[in-house]
Amino acid sequence: MFRFFVCSLVPVIPMLLCNAQQKFRIVPRDLQVLEGTEALLRCEIYNLVGAVQWTKDGFALGFSHTIPGYPRYSVLADKNQGIYNLRISNASIEDDAEYQCQVGPAKFNSAIRANARLTVICKYYLA
Ligand SMILES: *[C@@H]1O[C@H](CO)[C@@H](O)[C@H](O)[C@H]1NC(C)=O
Repeated sequence: MFRFFVCSLVPVIPMLLCNAQQKFRIVPRDLQVLEGTEALLRCEIYNLVGAVQWTKDGFALGFSHTIPGYPRYSVLADKNQGIYNLRISNASIEDDAEYQCQVGPAKFNSAIRANARLTVICKYYLA
């Protein structure tokens, strides 16, 4: 009787898990920073199961915390807390772009993504 109960419950478990879908807790916001200062693009996820990466103008920056070819970029990540903030130090005009935090699909979870525009204001423009 108990076995029957447990076995009949098994197909229901994925449906229960679906209620705990990964979703954004904090999405990156459009940001304006002065050239030479730091930019922090935030991305935090509830119930994180997929792999997270940032893209810059559609170009994938990869899954590691340091990004080859982008020494000023780092991902301040805490997987257990679902935190994947992208920090750009000494911002320059080259960083002025559209960024996207992408959370990959995983069992019973679809991919999610959120965009933010980083605008870097040239120092000389203000002078
Ligand atoms: C910041 O970047 C500029 C070039 O964009 C460079 O000349 C300067 O040395 C850098 N400053 C630091 C603290 O890395």
